[in-house]
Amino acid sequence: MADTQVNTPEAPKPRKQGILDRHKILEKNATLLLVFSFLVVTIGGIVEIAPLFYLENTIEEVEGVRPYSPLELEGRNVYIREGCYVCHSQMIRPMRDEVERYGHYSLAAESMYDHPFQWGSKRTGPDLARVGGRYSDAWHVAHLVDPQSVVPESVMPKYGFLKNTLIDGRYIEDVMATNAFVGVPYSDEMLENGLADFRAQADPDSDYDDMLDRYPGAQVRNFDGEPGISEMDALIAYLQVLGTMVDFSTFTPDESR
Ligand code: HEC
Repeated sequence: MADTQVNTPEAPKPRKQGILDRHKILEKNATLLLVFSFLVVTIGGIVEIAPLFYLENTIEEVEGVRPYSPLELEGRNVYIREGCYVCHSQMIRPMRDEVERYGHYSLAAESMYDHPFQWGSKRTGPDLARVGGRYSDAWHVAHLVDPQSVVPESVMPKYGFLKNTLIDGRYIEDVMATNAFVGVPYSDEMLENGLADFRAQADPDSDYDDMLDRYPGAQVRNFDGEPGISEMDALIAYLQVLGTMVDFSTFTPDESR
């Protein structure tokens, strides 16, 4: 049986002359190949980049997205200082498993006032882009003070000390001015009232109507339940606003882009 299956080499087919042969010239000449590669990359680059210069804005504007209130902004600074981004991302990708777990995929507009953005690339813990409103303030306090008390297998460190560090708000207007400098549309009125708004949001007994006019939808509460405005208050105010600015029951993506 084996003897009958002799491999007879087929006669080589006549090769087609054409583009491949001309390509050989390029492949055999390093300098020419370099010049042509450069040309191809340049054309590709121009095609990709040039249209961006003619767009006024690459971010689709979305109703509801507003600059952070002074208290939320202060909480964001605590978040960055403590390196929460080392274990938590803030970007839900448009894939089924992510959308089912975390909610609507993140929109570019939702982080347009984040300097620097907190998208992240490491998920030791869950994505936090839509954690706002998912838990009560009391849960956040308990979890930050001792994560293992609510999630026994958690590897998250304890952050109870944030409760003891009060923020006097001395620098809040400078922080806002810095954000305004890099493009966040804080108006003069917002900058002038920075400290007052910072205090109003953490005190439900205060006169917070003007603050709410400036930052629609901001939540006014004593977030950590203790007297004084602590870093814990600011951080929870920030966590509770994450992903809540856009109303996804009415949101429809702009398909023209
Ligand atoms: C060493 C990694 C690590 C760091 C740093 C870390 N976390 Fe976590 N975080 C986790 C893990 C793991 C979980 C999931 C278990 C749990 O809920 O504790 C988690 C859960 C959470 C949750 C609950 C999310 C959800 O949807 O259930 C919140 C909120 C949170 N972290 C906030 C923070 C904040 C704020 C900081 C910074 C002050 C921080 N984390 C720092 C690892 C970390």
